[in-house]
Amino acid sequence: MGNVRVLILAAGKSTRMKSKYAKVLHLAAGNTLIEHVLRSARPLSGEIYVVVGHSGDQVRAAISGVHIVEQKEQLGTGHAVLAARDSFSDYTGDVLVLPGDVPLITSAILKDFIEFHRSGGFAASVLTADIDNPAGYGRIVRRNGNEVASIVEHRDATAETRNIREINSSIYVFNAPALFESLTKIGNDNVQREYYLTDVIAVLAGKKQKVGAYKIGSAEPILGINTRQELAAVSRVMNRNRCDFLMTEGVTIIDPDTTYIDADVQIGVDSVIYPGVQIYGSTTIGEDVTIRSFCRISNARIGARSVALEGCVIVDSTLGEDVSIGPYAHVRMDSRLADTVKIGNFVEMKKSVLGAGTKSMHLAYLGDATIGKNVNVGAGVITCNYDGSKKHATIIEDGAFIGTDSQLIAPVRIGKDAYVAAGSSITDDVPAESLAIGRGRQVNKDGWVKQRKKS
Ligand code: UD1
Ligand code: CA
Repeated sequence: MGNVRVLILAAGKSTRMKSKYAKVLHLAAGNTLIEHVLRSARPLSGEIYVVVGHSGDQVRAAISGVHIVEQKEQLGTGHAVLAARDSFSDYTGDVLVLPGDVPLITSAILKDFIEFHRSGGFAASVLTADIDNPAGYGRIVRRNGNEVASIVEHRDATAETRNIREINSSIYVFNAPALFESLTKIGNDNVQREYYLTDVIAVLAGKKQKVGAYKIGSAEPILGINTRQELAAVSRVMNRNRCDFLMTEGVTIIDPDTTYIDADVQIGVDSVIYPGVQIYGSTTIGEDVTIRSFCRISNARIGARSVALEGCVIVDSTLGEDVSIGPYAHVRMDSRLADTVKIGNFVEMKKSVLGAGTKSMHLAYLGDATIGKNVNVGAGVITCNYDGSKKHATIIEDGAFIGTDSQLIAPVRIGKDAYVAAGSSITDDVPAESLAIGRGRQVNKDGWVKQRKKS
């Protein structure tokens, strides 16, 4: 699409969010609102300008590959566009203006909208839709049949204008010189004492310049976010869209209403996701995987045919193929489970590696541990990796057997095929193919109970 520049408004104060953070940095489906808008804008233009102001440093830090324009005081959307005037001084093409708070907008709609603007020969075009509850939005006021006469903000509208259901999306295409020329003519004589970008429409229409309105069939893609309620509503739409997409691609999601899947999550064919699962970030899940209820999975990779039983937390970690974990396992900080590994109830892994065929079925803590293939880790085994100031590594070589309720006091190495007796505290390395017993000997005192009763 030749010669269009994009201008995104993201300097506003977001009063209604009641937040310490810039509104456009709030998350929906795992990405910031502005990132969603940027992703839709990028295919249309290599020249993207973002107006920042309120919490501007936070916003700047969160985006890249764009030109930044600063709006020092937040005096309204018209004032925000004006802040970009110098950056556009020798540009005579079209500019697509987007607010930073409409994350459901798509590239396809924007592309059609720009085509509409160009083929109609308009000086300005606005993207609109009818909506059931238009409260809060600017209304599209038409005259002489169908021409756009002006946009009136909800707060400034009469009861009659408030009955109009066609709303301003705040997405426009302007001929750049016409935009900046008419911006010098708007005032701030309104309820909010702000310079409204919407007033440019009446300025242009008054000069008999052609203003187009491109109305789309559903308001959903242009829903804006001003409140936490609207953030929740838009997040729900994104989640439903992602679940729909994955189901279309062959994933079973038993109850999409209680399943939360971020926009970038990938899941393979014939995998089954049970109710109440949350899958976030850049997680990739293979084919025929089963994720049972109440798992939280974030930035993880899970190989084909693996199973996570109820209540597992898997964060920043990798599971191979045919792995089984849980119920209630916790795998975190770059832990890696090779193919066919099994970990069971209440096993926690932190920065640890388990080789193929290794099992740890009950109640273990494996931290900073590198564990080989076909190792059996008994119930209640703990790697004591922390000495109060530093973390230390535990190494367990292939085929070792770690008896129940043993503590491995790191740094320590258990050799290949070695055995650790149940209930041992292991402080020294164990050579390959040997048995280590690190516990007090048992003493049985015959007749002790009778003697006690006498005394
Ligand atoms: C705006 C439109 C309204 C439209 C609605 C659609 C105006 C006056 N009103 O209202 O007609 O129906 O969007 O969602 O334009 N911003 C700045 N600097 C400022 C003020 C705002 O950069 O000084 C940015 C905000 O960060 C935001 C965008 O402009 O991304 C829109 O501002 P917002 O306050 O959300 O406008 P609405 O009241 O929603
Ligand atoms: Ca808004």
